[in-house]
Amino acid sequence: MKSDQPNPEFRRAPELQDRILEMHSAAMREMSEPRDGIRPTPVTFLILCFFFTMWGGYYIGAYGGDWTGTGMNEKAGAAAPVASAPQNPMALGAEVYNACTQCHQADGKGLAGQFPPLAASEYVTGDERRFAAILLNGINGDFVVNGQKYNSQMPAWKDNYNDEEIAAVMTYVRNSFGNKAAPVSKQVVEAVRKEVGANGPWSESSLAEFAAKK
Ligand code: HEC
Repeated sequence: MKSDQPNPEFRRAPELQDRILEMHSAAMREMSEPRDGIRPTPVTFLILCFFFTMWGGYYIGAYGGDWTGTGMNEKAGAAAPVASAPQNPMALGAEVYNACTQCHQADGKGLAGQFPPLAASEYVTGDERRFAAILLNGINGDFVVNGQKYNSQMPAWKDNYNDEEIAAVMTYVRNSFGNKAAPVSKQVVEAVRKEVGANGPWSESSLAEFAAKK
């Protein structure tokens, strides 16, 4: 038998040839020959894709805030955990100031004869040590503000707020109600707290003594 003879099955059944082509058409489609005019993807493009993928991963890892809805904080930097990012003192101070409004009022103008104004008050915009001392320990008895005499009680806040919160409300009051004065750092409050910690509320004269001491 001659080996170059086609398979007799083929000759016998042309419709079988059709079926074989049909059976292989799927495989031929999958592995189609490269056509003219299509060039391989440039290697530089692949490197760029790789680079941007890696960079995207790094970016999400560094700034994504552990996928929490509120955690995205591009400015905090990779090293600083989002939760301990310092709060805006004006925002924090405005929050703390809610504790003051019942007496000094939301507009900082106080109530005539009962509660002194924080607007245009030397106690607010002046010596920051003295202001911190007032907030930490409170005041009892006669107290003159802007020529007006008050005789009531200013509560002590040292057990309610930490140094950062007191500094923030000071910064807020010093820059609200028409006041304009430098922000207060929590280190100032920390130092005054150490100095006056155990004292009771101030009187007008003991406060003046403290302020003069430096
Ligand atoms: C319960 C009422 C009351 C609350 C609350 C209160 N204060 Fe006062 N504050 C007073 C009174 C009264 C005086 C005057 C002292 C006196 O009469 O013995 C005073 C005095 C002051 C003074 C010095 C005088 C002046 O007007 O500048 C400052 C500053 C001050 N308070 C800030 C604050 C801040 C800030 C808060 C909130 C954290 C606050 N106070 C909450 C009643 C209050």
